[in-house]
Amino acid sequence: MDTNQAKKRIGKLRKEIEGLRYRYHVLDDPKVTDDVYDSLTRELKALEAEFPGLVSGDSLINRVAGKPLEKFVKVPHKVRMLSLNDAFSKAELKDWEKRIRKLLDVGADLIRPTGGKMGSSPTGRRVGQFFKMSNQLNYFCELKLDGLAVSLIYEKGLLIRGATRGDGFVGEDITQNLKTIKSIPIKLNQPFPEYVEVRGEAVMAKKVLDALNKKQAAEGKVLFANTRNAAAGGLRQLDPKLAAERNLDFFAYDVVSVGGGLDRSLQNHSDKHDLLRTLGFKVDEHEAVCKDLDEVGKFVDKIEKLRPDFPFGTDGVVVSVDDLALQTILGVVGKAPRYMVAYKYPAEKATTIITNIFFNVGRTGVLTPVAMFEPTLVAGSTISKATLHNMDQIDRLDIRVGDTVVIQKAGDVIPEVVEVLVKLRSGKEKKVKAPEKCPVCGGGVKRRGVGEGFKPSQKKDGLEAHPYTGMSSVAFYCVNPKCPAKNSRGMQHFVSVLDIYEIGPKILDRLQEEGLISDAADLFTLKKSDLEGLERFGAKSAENIIKSINDHRKISFPKFIYALGILHVGEQTAEDLAVSFATLDKLIAASVEEINNIENIGPVVSQSVYNYFHAQENLKFVKKLLDNGVVIESQRLNVEGQRLQGRTFVITGSLETMSREAARAKIKELGGKTSESVSKQTSYVVVGKEPGSKYNKALELGVEILDEQRFLELIR
Ligand code: IVH
Repeated sequence: MDTNQAKKRIGKLRKEIEGLRYRYHVLDDPKVTDDVYDSLTRELKALEAEFPGLVSGDSLINRVAGKPLEKFVKVPHKVRMLSLNDAFSKAELKDWEKRIRKLLDVGADLIRPTGGKMGSSPTGRRVGQFFKMSNQLNYFCELKLDGLAVSLIYEKGLLIRGATRGDGFVGEDITQNLKTIKSIPIKLNQPFPEYVEVRGEAVMAKKVLDALNKKQAAEGKVLFANTRNAAAGGLRQLDPKLAAERNLDFFAYDVVSVGGGLDRSLQNHSDKHDLLRTLGFKVDEHEAVCKDLDEVGKFVDKIEKLRPDFPFGTDGVVVSVDDLALQTILGVVGKAPRYMVAYKYPAEKATTIITNIFFNVGRTGVLTPVAMFEPTLVAGSTISKATLHNMDQIDRLDIRVGDTVVIQKAGDVIPEVVEVLVKLRSGKEKKVKAPEKCPVCGGGVKRRGVGEGFKPSQKKDGLEAHPYTGMSSVAFYCVNPKCPAKNSRGMQHFVSVLDIYEIGPKILDRLQEEGLISDAADLFTLKKSDLEGLERFGAKSAENIIKSINDHRKISFPKFIYALGILHVGEQTAEDLAVSFATLDKLIAASVEEINNIENIGPVVSQSVYNYFHAQENLKFVKKLLDNGVVIESQRLNVEGQRLQGRTFVITGSLETMSREAARAKIKELGGKTSESVSKQTSYVVVGKEPGSKYNKALELGVEILDEQRFLELIR
């Protein structure tokens, strides 16, 4: 075949394959069997390999997993990636409506007519006044899919970058991995704008998770707790081939910026969904424009009935004010927009009979009672045990072995027992006694102190505090610092946070039994020869384990903090700590007050963090990790140095806490730019007292407005 013929054939193949991909992966309407698709794809790949000059931006080669990366590159988001506030009941939705109506009544007066940009509106005044007169507020309802937020940027119709949310300001470039998701278009349908940023959710189907977990179990590896974790792990693979194996999917839900050549105006959130569909994205079909909260309630109820049968996990419904001009008036507070809320479904419930209660030793030594019961189907999965939290809970609910109980499970939350059906008792049920010995090491057990965050040396109500954390809530803990159970739970947590999926609990136990490791830090000095020598340990699995450890030595600061397993420090708190303190040294040196000053972190957590970094054994462990080659990826770049990179600020009005010069200097220090005039390119307008016309201009153009408080949070 000569180049000319190849060109023609390639053109035809691309068009045909693209059409099939769209039907299959976006419309869920396969026209031909996989075999035909695969066969045409093979032919195209072969031709593109033979004629590399004919490879272009929309070539199939782009879907083929490329070379593994060394690490992910940090990328600043042009528009911050926000999160959502939750509403757990219809009453909370009403409260939300009350708050936004109040703001809209005031805000409507501020809107001025403008030249028009998405988010504001050329009909700004009309919208505002119309709202005031009619009081009409339309809501847009859509599914809250349980996956990972992703940003996709298209230039001239081609996907040029895909990124994770990260801390909302700076994410990681995962373009290679995202290109392996077949429902993500590499090239947009015509007519497309010059530039567009699309946001959506990368998800894993429930069926895919089941199959993946079966495979993980067969290989003795860690099971994924839910589809979200499995999807997140997939997107964090440096090797796109591994990401492709996770079989992920993508649903678009938002367009956050459009530049040039858009042939329609975007007045409502629903218009964005229409645009996404015509550009070729998969947008979930369950959506509705509702004229009031009653209609929203009906949508929410309808979805609640349907969701157990959805192929993907959903944990709620996202409700937005449909009108984009009203969205602009409402703006953002903290990390979340005021104009959107996530209605979260309550946990699903089922009944079962408790067959046994045992005590599990956690990574902090706490003995947690766990109820075993007949395998029961709840919230889409079969479960046979649930945490009872602590002895207090057992006493409060009077839970006994043999009791019929109500269990519940919410989304990715672990199942729990919520109620005993006392009337169903036969009289043979057995009470549970508090443990006197650690069920694993036989060591002593003590009751842990109550009261909020007091220091380890203190006693309260005659109770001793937890030795490392000094934390509250009544619990029993194993006092043996060398208790193997504590250690192995801590290690399990560590390897799962680092995504070292090759090492499951069984392998960790084995390594510990063989004396090869005594803590997670020891993993990082293991050699292939250490493992190969072990009975029933193949050379291949030894190699895989060592490779996986080496691939995960570099770790982001938030993950590092989370991996330490500090009591009460979950993923979000770890991220908040990392952003606030920027370096490990600063975190270690922080006082309780400094930690407590962080938004969302209360006294109990502050004390726990402080205590962790003031216990010698913990500091030794942290040092050992670093000495053994764990590397905390520099946070300076995104947290201190370049945190505001790519963002332009305009300041108007006088600030109470600093001069405008000082504010400008701080913005520059953090990598941002300042400007005197507001334009579409402005990222934020900081509004102090008695703002000038720049404030109105910002409202007109739909530029995000920061009051002084929020500005301070941003530069803190
Ligand atoms: S809207 C304002 N729409 O929920 C930022 N988010 O808690 C929210 N999510 O990070 C974007 N489905 O990962 C939106 N239909 C949907 C969503 C959705 C799932 C996730 C998203 C976001 C999180 C917010």
